Amino acid sequence: MPLDGNADGRSRRGVLKAAVALGSASALSACLDRTSNDPVPTGDPAAKPARQHAWREYVRHDDHGNTQLPSHQILLYLSLDSDGPPSADDRDALAATLDALDRAYAWSHEGLLHSIAYSPAYFDRFDTPLPDGIDLPEPTALSPFESPTLDRQDAVLHLASDRADALLEADRALRGEREAANGVSVPTLPLTVDSRRTGFVGAGLPANHQDAAGIPDSEPVPEASPLFMGFKAGFRGNQATEDYVTIESGPFAGGTTKAIANLRQRLDDWYEEQSHEERVMEMFSPGYAEQGLVEGIGDNLGADSKIDQFVDDLESDARAYGRVGHAQKAARANRDDDGNVRLLRRHFESTDDIGSEQKVASLHFPSLQRRITAFEEVRRAMNGTDLTEVTPAIRQRVNNGILEYIFVRRRGYFLVPPRRHRAFPTPRPA
Ligand code: HEM
Repeated sequence: MPLDGNADGRSRRGVLKAAVALGSASALSACLDRTSNDPVPTGDPAAKPARQHAWREYVRHDDHGNTQLPSHQILLYLSLDSDGPPSADDRDALAATLDALDRAYAWSHEGLLHSIAYSPAYFDRFDTPLPDGIDLPEPTALSPFESPTLDRQDAVLHLASDRADALLEADRALRGEREAANGVSVPTLPLTVDSRRTGFVGAGLPANHQDAAGIPDSEPVPEASPLFMGFKAGFRGNQATEDYVTIESGPFAGGTTKAIANLRQRLDDWYEEQSHEERVMEMFSPGYAEQGLVEGIGDNLGADSKIDQFVDDLESDARAYGRVGHAQKAARANRDDDGNVRLLRRHFESTDDIGSEQKVASLHFPSLQRRITAFEEVRRAMNGTDLTEVTPAIRQRVNNGILEYIFVRRRGYFLVPPRRHRAFPTPRPA
């Protein structure tokens, strides 16, 4: 079959996407039948970076040097079956599984990127607390208008690849549905998969997946958009670097912290009641619309959204336009005293309706930062509750960035250890 063969009327890409979304045996077979004949590159465990979150150098970039995250991604939320800390045997078993994954795949978007992270509930299994410098609180609601289910599973394993076939093979081997991945024997994970969440990101994929609850039937998502809301995100200049989010000292030096939320999107009014200009106001800031700064999905912004020029306008924009922008609000808490960006956002789209078979437009929002508190501060700044006092036109969820269209359903916090401590770390690994 040709690479993009569509013998039965479905594009190869469509079949692969359906397969990742479903993960079922039949969908996987369909996917493997139709995937590229190029071999998936295998890996050398000795050649992996010391940081599990070292992805940037190993993925594609656009013409401006902005990271293009792997197209297909899976989050496996994992629980230990017994009480108390994991045993030495558990640790050896997990290390063997992850080492096998490293042999099976090159550390690249064409092979497999992965990282395992552990929750506060996991570390509570031990008598010793985490070192003082580690900021990993229990997850919590971060606004008066949300009540997310809190993800308190022990661990989350994040898998990402541009090759849907590689991703699915790894996923199935890890869950014990097959013995080998990319020709390498991979022992089943010594944890129970409590929740399996899937997603995609990049031009074309949201447009092809827009047949989901939360997106109007007019199929408004532009083909060029990497996200359902019709804009690009994650400009290089508006993202923390991997170095910046890395824990610098103590036993977890080389690690980071990860907040992962799942948000439901309801985009009927976003697309049906607003013009592009109004969407630009609410996503970026009214000044962007005034100056015509965003063409289409915003690729013309280059390597930086330039939001810093608009942060001080929040109150005057609220008064003059009766609206404020999402990026404008978030950015005000997203710089340190030296002007560095604090969060490294790696969000991707999904049609998961966790716990049901329905297809809904949703977003998995992993964010990396040195301290979870930084995430909480930025997220609270995005609430814009203060702006509701500036003018009655701005209400908690109306004309207040994109809050009218996004609904937080889940949130969990995790510590991503450096690779050397990735298999069931104690709170004070040697
Ligand atoms: C469907 C949901 C969301 C969409 C489509 C979205 C989209 C965007 C876009 C287009 C930008 C401007 C470009 C950029 O700098 O990346 C942006 C900026 C930003 N967003 Fe979101 N976002 C979403 C949810 C969130 C959430 C839940 C947070 C939580 C903290 C968040 C935090 C930020 C931050 C920190 C910035 C950067 C502002 C800066 O320059 O410092 N976003 N987002």
